[in-house]
Order: sequence, then structure tokens, then C-alpha cells
Amino acid sequence: MTKLFEKGTLGIIDVNNRVFMAPLTRSRANLDGTQHEMAIKYYSQRASAGLIIVEATQISPQGQGYLKTPGIYNTQHAEAWKKVTNAVHANGGKIVLQLWHVGRISHTSLLPEGKPPVAPSAIQATADTFTAKGVENASEPRALDIDEIKPIMDEYVQAAKLAMDAGFDGVEVHGANGYLLNQFISTNTNVRDDQYGGSIENRSRLLLEVVDAVSNEVGHNKVGVRLSPTSRFNDIHDEQIEETYSYIYSELGKRNLAYLHVIERSPEYETPDKDKDEDIVRKLRNGFSGNYIANGDYDKASASKVLEEGAFAVAFGRLFISNPDLAERLEKDAELLEPNHNTFYGGDEKGYSDYPTLAST
Ligand SMILES: Cc1cc2nc3c(=O)[nH]c(=O)nc-3n(C[C@H](O)[C@H](O)[C@H](O)COP(=O)(O)O)c2cc1C
Repeated sequence: MTKLFEKGTLGIIDVNNRVFMAPLTRSRANLDGTQHEMAIKYYSQRASAGLIIVEATQISPQGQGYLKTPGIYNTQHAEAWKKVTNAVHANGGKIVLQLWHVGRISHTSLLPEGKPPVAPSAIQATADTFTAKGVENASEPRALDIDEIKPIMDEYVQAAKLAMDAGFDGVEVHGANGYLLNQFISTNTNVRDDQYGGSIENRSRLLLEVVDAVSNEVGHNKVGVRLSPTSRFNDIHDEQIEETYSYIYSELGKRNLAYLHVIERSPEYETPDKDKDEDIVRKLRNGFSGNYIANGDYDKASASKVLEEGAFAVAFGRLFISNPDLAERLEKDAELLEPNHNTFYGGDEKGYSDYPTLAST
């Protein structure tokens, strides 16, 4: 028996099963950040997921790091997303939006007036961005002044408000994968000497302040957080992973949020000490008091196991690209299709909304 197909309630979001869709950047939005009409079909095809967490969505022009990613900072963005949420709801699904600021993982050609990316400290990443010219290294960032931090928090709040206007069931604060909030948390990207740098409490401050500000706006039971404690994707590394994230998990646990969503491993970005990282991830997971969504290379068996161990749900990424009806396929032990990596980012309907469902084959 598996708990994967049990109904449940996450904060105040009722879900039909525990097979969640992880956020997946597909780089098909219009250049002004409005979501493309193609996304209506793509997401509604995946409405049988217990919860869809949509692709990372920038909260401001400065928060963008790749070409053709969607935004949520004006009413046109909200209106385009509204068509997506309506279609998913019409198909019985639940859908939340991932709030994103890339920080230093960007390129001057993507940013207002060609200015540099912003970051906790002026430390350039060895990491790829995707621009009009193709793949380019992230540009050298400048360090944010202390008085620039509150306006960024306000952008998160404004974006969360627009997400509610767009009909989302909640929002997920993206604190993972080496983007802005993760850059504040990690020792290799944050060498500030003010209240946002140094101690674990200081490095975690911006994440927690953003979570509180967003919760204030939309309600704590509609807010999730995504973290990736052990990931090194985007040139990120913390010297005190266990201590740092014990503190963060404990602080998030006090806030009665809808959920904490953790990228537990990244198969495409192996860490140097895999076994140790797996131990840390497990220990942290067991210590978390709220609803926990596990992610990272799960299949039906390992997902069922982690639910037995106390996780609320499992988010699947790559499998949802190629299996729109993943929940049904897992339930029936049906064949799983492999995704085509060449059509992950950019392009049209091909490799996006043309993967077949069981019912269509
Ligand atoms: C094409 C692609 C796009 C992704 N985009 C995002 C994103 O927008 N936000 C995010 O937090 N993670 C993103 N990820 C990471 C996935 O959400 C997930 O953590 C990762 O694929 C591991 O899960 P899996 O093994 O089930 O695929 C992306 C991964 C892929 C393959």
C-alpha cells in the first residue's frame, strides 16, 4: 500500500493526492514576461497532480536571470496567469506560483538599462544564464545596499498579491538553487558585515523576513518555501549546512506555513560528499515539524517510502515534463515516458504540451 494517492490538506489547500508537480522553468513566456497561451494547455494537462507548483516567476525586472521566463509584477502578468489557473481549476487541480528573484544569476543583457545583477556581496558566480545569444556566464554582480533590501521585500509582497489576483491557491517562496535568498543564506556568496551577513541568524534573516511579509499579505497557510540545503547548483555552498538549515527549518516550523519543499538531491549536480549530504537531508527532514514535500530523483517506491517516514507529499520534476498524467500512471504502474532534454528550455508546443496521456494512447 502507498499513501501517494490519498487526499489531504496542506495549509488550507485541499489536494487529491501526494504526487505533486515540481516547478519547471520552460522558457516559453513572451519577452515582456507575460505567460504564453501555450502554458494554459500545458498546465491544465497536468491538473491531476495533487498540486502544481508553477515554474519560477520573477517578482521584478531585476529579478530575471534567463530569457523568456515569466513574471508576476504587473496586471498583464496576472491576467495571463489567470487563464492558466482557471484552466487548472476547471480540471480539478490546485496550483501555486513560485516567487523568484535570481540575484547574481543573471546577465546585464537581460536587466533594466543593462545594469549588473544584484547580490548580497559582489562575488561573481561561475554559472550559466540563458540570453538572446545563448548560454552565457552570469555577469559580475554588485552588492545590495542595506536600504535596497526593504524595496525587494515589497516586491515579493506585491508579487504575492498579484498571484492571488491571478487565482493561485498559494505561493512558494523560492529559497533554493543558488538564487537571491539562497545567496543570502550561504557562506560562499554572503560576506556582508551588517545584520544580513555573518551569523546564521543574520544570513537567514532575509528569507524569514520575506516569508513573514508574504504571509502577512496572503495568509501563512497559503505560503510554502523551497530550499536546497545540500545543492551546489549555481555555484552555491554553505560551510555549516546542518547548523544553518536546522535553524531555518526550526524557524519555518514555528510559522505554520502551508509547507516546506526541499530539493534533497540533484542527480545532475552531484555533490562531493553524497552520503554525508543524504544523512544531513534525512536528519533535517525528521526534525521538521510542518508539512514536508520531498523532491529529487524520486520514483514510486522511494516516494511511497518517504511518505511512510512522514513526508506529506513528493514533488516530481522531470517525470512531469514527459508524463502529464503522472499520478494516474504511477497508480496504474503504467509505462513512464522519458523526457527529451533538447526541448526543456525554449521552443514551442513540441516537447511541451504534446506528451501523450494514457487516455489518449
Ligand atoms: C527543465 C528544468 C527546469 C527547472 N526549473 C526549476 C524552477 O523553475 N524552479 C525550481 O525551484 N526548480 C527547478 N528545477 C528543479 C526541479 O524542480 C527539481 O528540483 C529537479 O528536477 C529534481 O527533481 P526530479 O528528480 O523529480 O526531476 C528545474 C529542473 C528542470 C529539469
